[in-house]
Amino acid sequence: MIKVSNAVKYYKDGEKKIAALSEVSLTVGNNELVVILGPSGSGKSTLINVMSALDRCDMGKIEYDGTVITDLPDRKMTRFRRDNVGFIFQEYYLLPDLTVENNIRMGASLAKNTDYGEIISMLDLDQLMKRMPYQLSGGQQQRVAIARALAKKPQVLFCDEPTGALDEATGKQVLSLLQDYQRKNNIAIVMVTHNQGIAAMASKVVRMNSGRIISEEINQNIADAADVRWA
Ligand SMILES: Nc1ncnc2c1ncn2[C@@H]1O[C@H](COP(=O)(O)OP(=O)(O)OP(=O)(O)O)[C@@H](O)[C@H]1O
Ligand SMILES: [Mg+2]
Repeated sequence: MIKVSNAVKYYKDGEKKIAALSEVSLTVGNNELVVILGPSGSGKSTLINVMSALDRCDMGKIEYDGTVITDLPDRKMTRFRRDNVGFIFQEYYLLPDLTVENNIRMGASLAKNTDYGEIISMLDLDQLMKRMPYQLSGGQQQRVAIARALAKKPQVLFCDEPTGALDEATGKQVLSLLQDYQRKNNIAIVMVTHNQGIAAMASKVVRMNSGRIISEEINQNIADAADVRWA
């Protein structure tokens, strides 16, 4: 379980301090899919960046099953992130000079995992392994980014607008792959999105505004990704 307690994060804007996170508290269970919604600038990316050990908060505590990552020195925090956390972003961030295969292998070797063949077939990438990222469509690139993230066997996958650059059919396909993987492997997924429809597939829906969580809702009837209303 991930437990965020009273996380505070400031950014400097000239002389002013902006509170990107104000006393945010949240728990994510080991096999939850949490969707975070909120207007632009409300702190969604900041929250998942500090939750995933990509960035530090200025106050507050973040724990993973008893490991308090906010207490770790930088080197240990980086190692924790490398070993336990996967990321998917709207922009894919594949390494442009590496083949699909080597992009995925890089993700796997970061966590010293060699057993990722199943992920490649699940994401239907077998035929694309020798291609370069520029030879792929957006949806294909996102599938490679997902394979790279999952090849680490992370305990948590953080997704920041994973379908933001995709059309409805491709976006739903990507969401279905994530949902299937999550159901089979009982990992936690924390997904930031502007697409309100995606909330239907969450176990918990968190809404943010101005650096705060303004509501948290448990979803009793979790929808399949294929049935999400695209907004
Ligand atoms: N590196 C930074 N330096 C200064 N201010 C920042 C930085 N990153 C974010 N902010 C500010 O912190 C606040 C929260 O930003 P954040 O990126 O978390 O919002 P968001 O909810 O992810 O927005 P979006 O939906 O547009 O991605 C905003 O006011 C933003 O301008
Ligand atoms: Mg953002």
